[in-house]
Amino acid sequence: MAATVVVRCAPLRGEAFDDPRLLALLDTHERERASRKRSPLFVVAHALLRTTVGEVLEVHPGRLVFVKRCDICGGADHGKPAVADHAGLHVSLSYAGSMAVAAVTRAGPIGVDVEEVAATGFVGFPDVTLAPEERAAVESRTGTDLLIARARTWARKEAVLKATGHGLSIDPPAIRVAGPDEPAALVSWADGVPSPGPVQLLDHQVDEGRHVACLAVLTDETLEVG
Ligand SMILES: CC(C)(COP(=O)(O)OP(=O)(O)OC[C@H]1O[C@@H](n2cnc3c(N)ncnc32)[C@H](O)[C@@H]1OP(=O)(O)O)[C@@H](O)C(=O)NCCC(=O)NCCS
Repeated sequence: MAATVVVRCAPLRGEAFDDPRLLALLDTHERERASRKRSPLFVVAHALLRTTVGEVLEVHPGRLVFVKRCDICGGADHGKPAVADHAGLHVSLSYAGSMAVAAVTRAGPIGVDVEEVAATGFVGFPDVTLAPEERAAVESRTGTDLLIARARTWARKEAVLKATGHGLSIDPPAIRVAGPDEPAALVSWADGVPSPGPVQLLDHQVDEGRHVACLAVLTDETLEVG
C-alpha cells in the first residue's frame, strides 16, 4: 500500500501580515517573527503548515506545538521543523514569491521547496546552484524556458537538502539532480557527506507556471500525494 504525502498550497490573496484570523492560529514565537518580518507570506505559510498538520492529526491548528532542530549545530531555535510528541510525523514548509507550500507524511523525512520562476533570472544563478554537469541541460535555454528549467532544478535540489536537514550548509552545486525534462531524481550526493539513503523526488504543480515546487522524501516506500 502506498504511503500518503499530504501537500497543501496557499497563494497570497491580499492577506495582511497582521491578519487577526491567521495570527490567531500561530503561537507567540511565530507571531513575534511575523511582526518583525511584516510579511503576509510568512503569516500565510505558517498558518498553512498548521492547518495542514491539523488536518492530518485532526487537531485544531492553533493547539499544535512545533519544535525545531538544527542538525548542524544542535540549536533549537532554527533548522528543520517538527511536531512535538509526534516523532513519526515529518513536515516541511516553503514559501517564495506569492506561494506557500506545506507537506506532511509519515513515510520518512520530507523536504518541500517552492521557487518563483521569475526570481531565477539573476546573473550569478548557475554559480550558486548548478553542478558543472547540470549547466549544459539548463543554461543552454533561453527566455521563459531557461527560467523554468532553473526554478525546477533549484526546487529539486533544495527539496533534497531540506529533507536531509542540511539546508544550504551543503553547497547546492555539490549535489546533482536529473535534468529539467527528465523525471525528478537525485543523481549524485555530496562527496564526503554520509549518504541520505533512498531519496524520492516528486515535482509538484502549484499554479500555471509562476511557481515551481518539488517534494523530497527519504524512503523507498511507494508514495501517493493527497
Ligand atoms: C533551510 C533553507 C534551505 C530554507 O531556504 P529558503 O529558500 O530561504 O526558505 P524556504 O521558504 O524554502 O524554507 C523556509 C523554511 O524551511 C524550514 N527550515 C529551516 N531550516 C531548515 C533545515 N535545515 N532543513 C529543513 N527545513 C528547514 C523552516 O520551516 C523555514 O521556515 P521559517 O524560517 O519561516 O521557520 C535555508 O534557510 C538554510 O539552508 N538555512 C540553514 C543554513 C545553515 O546551514 N545554517 C547553519 C546554522 S548553524
